[in-house]
Amino acid sequence: MVVAVDGTSGSGKSSTCRLVAERLGLRYLDTGAMYRAVAWWMLQHDVNIYDVDEVAARAHEPLLESGTDPLRPTITLDGVDVSVEIRSEAVNAAVSPVSTVPAVRARLVDLQRATIGEGGIVVEGRDIGSVVWPDAGLKIYLTADPAARARRRAAEAGTHDVAATQESLLNRDRIDSARTVAPLVMPDGAVHVDSTHLSLDEVVDVVVGLATAPADVAP
Ligand code: DC
Repeated sequence: MVVAVDGTSGSGKSSTCRLVAERLGLRYLDTGAMYRAVAWWMLQHDVNIYDVDEVAARAHEPLLESGTDPLRPTITLDGVDVSVEIRSEAVNAAVSPVSTVPAVRARLVDLQRATIGEGGIVVEGRDIGSVVWPDAGLKIYLTADPAARARRRAAEAGTHDVAATQESLLNRDRIDSARTVAPLVMPDGAVHVDSTHLSLDEVVDVVVGLATAPADVAP
């Protein structure tokens, strides 16, 4: 079973996917963390993240590994865990430009397909149901209105500046949706779940319900 969950930043994908994976006994892959780790590596190596050729030339260098236990997901870069570093403001600002570079996407999509191919996994991202794994057994497109997303992200980050958080989210939405390679879209055959007025448990129940529905009523 492959469950593909795509959607905007802050729509609740990570918490939802981890809990769904736990409930269904599946593995979990956060593809956003992979793009974040590459962006962090580029910053650490003084690569100009706005120079597409420079980013592309170094895209094969970072050695990435994703741990797929939903209770303890990890991401290591050259053997060092960077789970904390990839959530920094510097990475928030750098990740969308880095993830528009085709060579970065090609490298990460190969890694993602190798992991997904081992089976039994919930995968979150922007292009999982559309590009990475279009044959997923269940595809979810998870969204929420910008104010709700900003409130959640600000609470997670422990900041009171919800307006700045919303601006940063909307900026990433713009870049993610406008890029030419694998833009954020609602994949064919996806179920749209709007989490604006749903609690986390309610969203998890919806996704688990769809994943375990008999084949003739599942989308
Ligand atoms: O899910 P997230 O906010 O951690 O993702 C960070 C960025 O990574 C997001 O702004 C766009 C990029 N991304 C992507 O281009 N494709 C994916 N499958 C996942 C994330």
